Amino acid sequence: MTAFDIVDKYIKFFEKREHKKIPNSPLVPKNDPTTLFTSSGMQPLVPYLLGEEHPEGTKLVNVQNVFRAVDIEEVGNNRHTTFFRMLGNWSLGDYFKDREIPWLFEFLTVELKLPIEKLYITVFAGDENAVIKEGKKNPSLSLDADAISYWKKELEKVGANYIVWDEKFENSQNLNTAKIFPYGVDKNWWSRSGPPDKMPAGEPGGPSTEVFYDFGADLKIHEKSKFKDQKCHPNCDCGRFVEIANSVFMQYQKQEDGTLKLLPKPNVDFGGGLERLLLATEDQPDVFKTSLFAPIIEAIKKETGKTYEGHEVQMRIIADHITAATFITNAKIKPSNTDQGYILRRLIRRSLDNLYLLKGKDIDSVIESVVQQYKKTDPEIETNYEEIKNTILEEAQNYHGTREKAKKFIAKKYGDELMGTSEISAEDAFVIYTTHGLSPTQIKSLGYTFDEQQFAERMKEHKDLSKKGAGQKFRGGLADHSQQTVMGHTATHLMHKALRDMFGTDLHQSGSNITSERVRFDFNFDRKLTDEELTELEKIVNDKIKTNLPVHFEMIPTDKAHEMGAIGLFMDTYGEKSKIYFIGGDSKNPEKSYSIEFCGGPHVEFTGEVKSFKIIKQDALGRGFRRIYAKVG
Ligand code: ALA
Repeated sequence: MTAFDIVDKYIKFFEKREHKKIPNSPLVPKNDPTTLFTSSGMQPLVPYLLGEEHPEGTKLVNVQNVFRAVDIEEVGNNRHTTFFRMLGNWSLGDYFKDREIPWLFEFLTVELKLPIEKLYITVFAGDENAVIKEGKKNPSLSLDADAISYWKKELEKVGANYIVWDEKFENSQNLNTAKIFPYGVDKNWWSRSGPPDKMPAGEPGGPSTEVFYDFGADLKIHEKSKFKDQKCHPNCDCGRFVEIANSVFMQYQKQEDGTLKLLPKPNVDFGGGLERLLLATEDQPDVFKTSLFAPIIEAIKKETGKTYEGHEVQMRIIADHITAATFITNAKIKPSNTDQGYILRRLIRRSLDNLYLLKGKDIDSVIESVVQQYKKTDPEIETNYEEIKNTILEEAQNYHGTREKAKKFIAKKYGDELMGTSEISAEDAFVIYTTHGLSPTQIKSLGYTFDEQQFAERMKEHKDLSKKGAGQKFRGGLADHSQQTVMGHTATHLMHKALRDMFGTDLHQSGSNITSERVRFDFNFDRKLTDEELTELEKIVNDKIKTNLPVHFEMIPTDKAHEMGAIGLFMDTYGEKSKIYFIGGDSKNPEKSYSIEFCGGPHVEFTGEVKSFKIIKQDALGRGFRRIYAKVG
């Protein structure tokens, strides 16, 4: 059974049960500035899950291409991919657990012929501590006894042995006889933002029931893992169990006061990863060895001359990232330093780092094998093949240039000194990082080693110095931290956002210099701004000053910040978290923010403190860049 066969069976199964097939939404959502990528099948359906009428009715089915940037670092194990196809069926206030559970069971065991003894089920255990806001408890967050009873009924029908596992995993029941496992909000509650306390007001969510496929206790990956001597259970993360299906009973909406309210009608939101279902049908614990990925791994083996065994992590990263890059490029995104373009650049560079580590040179054959593997379900990637390939190869060329410059720097510095060794000083690694933008991993992929501890210390020193500013230029182009300069700094964020709103999001800041006298702001733009445009720009910024929006920063995981649409220069971003400034809104309500920027600060606390904004002049910087001078206060 191929990936294509699974999709075909799934769609037909639900069409037979009166579901209407809806199209696969674009991977880069249109008209949704709050998110960079479609990351689940339900995302385009949110208004309908909240009660709006869907033109196709109350029962829907599709297969949705999704990308999850948050999983980039997870790739390398037996089951994680950033790009995957999600099979989805929905009840918009129509059927509920009564039909979803039997249908899911039938699809898995009859259509896909998965053996019942390999399947494990999880349900919502309730949440004793569901005090979402002080003094207000949600009594409805109790054990999902309904789901348990529907599952029991299905299992009984086929004569399967079942026991409901003790919630606390404390007794000595045998895993082989337990089938149904209750878990709390961390595992069996689903919303786009996670458990109830993380959901922003207005967000729908609910308890879920999941199905896991068991690859068996004697699996090598389990033996090696830290879970070897521990009690194993479906969610234990050792790789023995893989989640293949998730039915969310989406019946709540988070309220402004922090509580959950029942939606007028309860919904079902089902999502099942096609790649994971394939893994189960092929009884193959490594997703990269399934019929979908095996030819892509073959192409990597051929290019690098290495075996898969012993190089699994690198090959998995290359295969996943080039697949994701192919689909993101197909959505007309180009590598850049902002938004989706930044994620695309990161994917391509990470896959190249790993390819070079394995002594491979060209990525062409990997791209080609990805297109071959996916063209049957996604024919447009074959149509756009040339464009996809050229975009990825152009970025590879750029990256090659950056790496060559770094290598030249080392060659010049060390001459013949290295003589077969590759150890460079942490200081030189640091210089490569600051001047060429290559991270420690990327420097290592060039074949150099250095004292990483020392590098980290050097980095810290640099950050502390930048903060103190001791007579030097501040980060963010600030000459000092006087009130006037800080006001000017906030004005650049407002100006940056206003310019992007006026001319599109290809426009971005390329530099700035702010003194107590004036603000200087550079950006990419290939013509003079008209007087009317300058007046308009001034007006927008002054309006935002008058609105007196709050300004604050939060430390946020860098990927998440990109997903929220944070913009800015990323030179100061290092490590997993970044400092993000919000004007209006916050990380829980990014859609309420006027501007979200990567920035070291400092800023005023309210935009009103900037008082006023006046443009003094504009200059051309040549080669498509312009400069604006302005005054504040
Ligand atoms: N929306 C649910 C998920 O993404 C089904 O897992």
